Amino acid sequence: MIDLSTLQPFASGGNRHCYRHPQYPDRCVKVMLPGRIDQLRKRAPWYKSFLSDDSFDDNAREVEGYNQQVLKNAPADSPVWQHLPRWYGMQETTEGPGAVSELILDANGEPGETLEHYLQTKGLDAPIRGALERFVAWLRATRVMTKNLLPHNLVIREEHGQPELYLIDGLGRATFLPIEELFEGANARYIERRIERMWARVEWEVSDKSLTWKQAEKASRRRF
Ligand SMILES: Nc1ncnc2c1ncn2[C@@H]1O[C@H](COP(=O)(O)OP(=O)(O)OP(=O)(O)O)[C@@H](O)[C@H]1O
Ligand SMILES: [Mg+2]
Repeated sequence: MIDLSTLQPFASGGNRHCYRHPQYPDRCVKVMLPGRIDQLRKRAPWYKSFLSDDSFDDNAREVEGYNQQVLKNAPADSPVWQHLPRWYGMQETTEGPGAVSELILDANGEPGETLEHYLQTKGLDAPIRGALERFVAWLRATRVMTKNLLPHNLVIREEHGQPELYLIDGLGRATFLPIEELFEGANARYIERRIERMWARVEWEVSDKSLTWKQAEKASRRRF
């Protein structure tokens, strides 16, 4: 049992608190926010009401994400890990089930900056554009399946003097049915859609935000 009872999360998302592992400072432990699963279930549309609690649990989604074909039996030195935190599995904590993964640290040993924060403070400069391009090349080469790629779910780590992006949340598929995994071509198209949307979101992030993301997303769909 991991004792988190006296610790403060170093960050929290919309669904989970993220703690630094008390025994391993390079690991992250994520637990669902108290009451969040019930809240999501209540908000869900009627046709999702038959789904199990797991469908509303980001940690369960993450377990599935790390269990996808290309990651499941990948050796430790496989390029599939180049842009992903290592996965240590689910463990019991005092705050409920915890998803344990590698904590992406900066040069000072602190949790790394998110792409969202970088874009807000430094904009879409050449180094981060390069990092995004390398991340996209990796997605195409490995065919790792992801949900929509959002700037607050990508964390930056400096490697060999340049920033690299790590997807710390959002493995798996965005769609309800696993159709994409049935056909090779559909899989590639699905990934291209995630990439297009990621660029649209990045552009929106550095824009004056006169459009809401919903409006900008709609406009970008017409373009592609
Ligand atoms: N492995 C990690 N390394 C470094 N920082 C991390 C890591 N995992 C999470 N974080 C930080 O914690 C924040 C929240 O984490 P995460 O996105 O996993 O939570 P969430 O509640 O599932 O998010 P969302 O709001 O996208 O549903 C991230 O935006 C990031 O700043
Ligand atoms: Mg997140």
